[in-house]
Amino acid sequence: MTSPAVLGGPPAFADGLPFFRPATPPLERVTARLAPSYDRGVLTNGPLVRQFEAEAADRLGVPHVVAVASCTAGLMLVVQALARAGTAAVMPSFTFSATAHAARWAGAVPRFAECDVTTCQLDVADAATRLDGASMLVGTHVFGAPCTPEAVEELGRSAGIPVVFDAAHAFGATRAGRALGTFGDAEIFSLSPTKPMTSGEGGLVALHDDDLAERLRLGVDYGNPGDYDTRFAGLNARMSELHAAVGLESLVDLDAHLAVRRDLAERYRVALKAVDGVVPQAVDPLDESTYKDFTVIVDETRFGVDRDTLAVALKAEGVDTRPYFHPPVHRQRAYADLGTPELPATDRVAGRVLSLPLWRDLPPGAVTTIAEVLARVSAHADQVRQAVRGTRPEGADTCAPS
Ligand SMILES: Cc1ncc(COP(=O)(O)O)c(C=O)c1O
Repeated sequence: MTSPAVLGGPPAFADGLPFFRPATPPLERVTARLAPSYDRGVLTNGPLVRQFEAEAADRLGVPHVVAVASCTAGLMLVVQALARAGTAAVMPSFTFSATAHAARWAGAVPRFAECDVTTCQLDVADAATRLDGASMLVGTHVFGAPCTPEAVEELGRSAGIPVVFDAAHAFGATRAGRALGTFGDAEIFSLSPTKPMTSGEGGLVALHDDDLAERLRLGVDYGNPGDYDTRFAGLNARMSELHAAVGLESLVDLDAHLAVRRDLAERYRVALKAVDGVVPQAVDPLDESTYKDFTVIVDETRFGVDRDTLAVALKAEGVDTRPYFHPPVHRQRAYADLGTPELPATDRVAGRVLSLPLWRDLPPGAVTTIAEVLARVSAHADQVRQAVRGTRPEGADTCAPS
């Protein structure tokens, strides 16, 4: 067997294999789409934004979609509208920082709950124990897979509080055939470049309630209904026509793109069966993930090396990876004032996850090669551990925060 590159063998990807590449629609289509607005001097919040909202609402089957400048801004406005200032918004710690940041900006207090160690999703039973005095429950569809939204919804309903989903990764995902975007009081999608559907930057809020939709439409425009007598402290969170043009073309390509992602994910799952101790995020067979990320959980005792050592070994092979979501939000310095609750399951997951390259034009053969590399690393585990330990200071974490 060839040696892993970290032990001096030839790298599997001599030219490097990026973690992701944005799935941009062809520029000619974007410019053709944009031209009518651009030529009329309509640069923001115009007919393309309205069309994008209408097409997204139609696809999801919801009465309202409000376009926003980012998922973070959408989350901020939704939390501002639905949570009571100064009270807790219960949410997973195993999520991206923006979920919690939005609550903090909106004057709510993030209260972190555990995640499940195989699905990486909010542990609904644990969240149920943390609802005392809370005015909102937030779920995140981690890596584009549904977070049992009906169970989260049910928990919020029984507690009498609104339920919101951070659906940043999840436009195009389904839960038992039902589109994500249709659950809870609102679901907020991201359209930043790492997302399967992108507008460059941007987000979409999907929801049912007419009054909440109206409030969000004001909220993206400073809270100004048009008379400059603002009704509340809104944001400038409008989507521009340029972004909507990219988003509309990205939507055209979405199903073909998701099919590629699901095929690559399935190839990873099959290939990784041969690698003991590297287990993909569990996704319910009834669900369809977007696979915004394909994430594995590295069990050092079975695989032979830990996640951080594996990331270094893969880097030596030319393979770029990310430890999403590490550190988990409850351990980030921004939330140190909350006293760092004990969340052992979340710590365990965050310490073991590694997201592998998955993007639209990734050559399918790369998946097989990565699985072979993993097998090589495992077969040489003792030497790899020693070699990597020699390259980094004791106790250093080799993985940058996500
Ligand atoms: C789970 C999650 N929520 C929110 C966001 C923030 O999205 P945006 O960059 O569109 O504000 C991200 C960004 O990647 C994310 O991963």
